[in-house]
Amino acid sequence: MRFGINTLDDLDVKDKTVLCRIDINQPVDQKTGTLKDTTRIEACIPTLKELTGKGAKLVLLAHQGSDIEYKNFYTTEPHATVLSKLLGKEVRFIDDVCGPAARAAVRALKGGEILLLDNVRFVAEEQTLFETKLLLSHEEQAKTLLVRKLAPLADLYVCDAFAAAHRDQPSLCGFEQILPSAMGRLFEEEFCVISGIMEKPERPCVFVLGGAKINDAFLMMNTVLSGGIADRVLTGGLVGEVLLWADDKDIGEGARSFIKKEGYEGLVGTAKALLAAYRDRVLMPEDFAAVREGRRAEYPLGAIPAGALVLDIGTGTAARYQAEIRRAKTVFVNGPMGVFEEEATEQGTRMVWDALGDTAAYTVIGGGDSITATKKYGKTKDIDYICTGGGALIRFLTGEELPVVKALRHGSKISPRR
Ligand code: 3PG
Repeated sequence: MRFGINTLDDLDVKDKTVLCRIDINQPVDQKTGTLKDTTRIEACIPTLKELTGKGAKLVLLAHQGSDIEYKNFYTTEPHATVLSKLLGKEVRFIDDVCGPAARAAVRALKGGEILLLDNVRFVAEEQTLFETKLLLSHEEQAKTLLVRKLAPLADLYVCDAFAAAHRDQPSLCGFEQILPSAMGRLFEEEFCVISGIMEKPERPCVFVLGGAKINDAFLMMNTVLSGGIADRVLTGGLVGEVLLWADDKDIGEGARSFIKKEGYEGLVGTAKALLAAYRDRVLMPEDFAAVREGRRAEYPLGAIPAGALVLDIGTGTAARYQAEIRRAKTVFVNGPMGVFEEEATEQGTRMVWDALGDTAAYTVIGGGDSITATKKYGKTKDIDYICTGGGALIRFLTGEELPVVKALRHGSKISPRR
């Protein structure tokens, strides 16, 4: 047991049905539906090998979102293929989450076999439980369809999804109310390593926040600033654009329409309040890049032409951020600066990652897109710690107890059935 949570050393899994929640949520190619990266899938392999090696009947639960917040959910079928390849044994997939077909497949499992269920977020209750929407207590989550249907078929629950540990949802927090539970090896490692770093971060401590999942980003920024964890926050992606809009700067009609279309206009008020309290510690872009006639075109803030959609921070902003990163002693990064997948709009992200590669600071990166960027720019060896969690990492750093940690502590007190 570590931090009041069982580890795999505390469970006897032989011939037991083990429900294992993993986070294999990967960047997906919107056009083809294929996975653009497999880092998180690779990261949970030690846990899966250990459990099947010890003779567990292993049932995997996972979610897969889209690149743009929570609007589309993809099947986990491609993940089963990758898992099978990495494990060197068949991971069966079933296109059902907790219906009769899924339950029959769970019952049919033998020791050492693995079944991956379809995306848990295809079940409505799983999706409505984001903390900004309907909130159910852990006891109430234990009564949701997913838990009611699957828990009776299982002996044990293991959570290896550190990357989703900030989510308060049935697949993550419900089973621990009923089943004896433990954290998997990846969860254990990430939890212990990050706890260690945060005991005493060296200062200046700089956060780099970008990307497109901006609901979370604002909550994170508020907590790391108000909690005195961040000395500076460097912003890019949609985070930077919303902040500038809140500061009455002209980010161009294209960016404003995009923010409105994505339903983020409401965050402008949140951003205003944030700037009112912490303006001196929040750095915003001063220039941007858009694509004009197929090529990168840069504009200073205030001179973005009508019709141009900004998709990256400009090189002036990126140079300023490089200097901050090189001056820092600890740097946490969550999210790219722009659409780094496209050549014309990758420069900002590339420059920030160059500085991450050569700064003397202790560097921690988290989140799917940040991991993809790290690989793309060949910085994997230069980053001190790569955490599979993006939102979870930042939330953890705020000192707030993560819902899954709380649930696992509860599930660790439940004794296995004899
Ligand atoms: C992530 O990508 O941060 C985790 O998989 C959690 O995903 P979510 O933000 O869609 O809950």
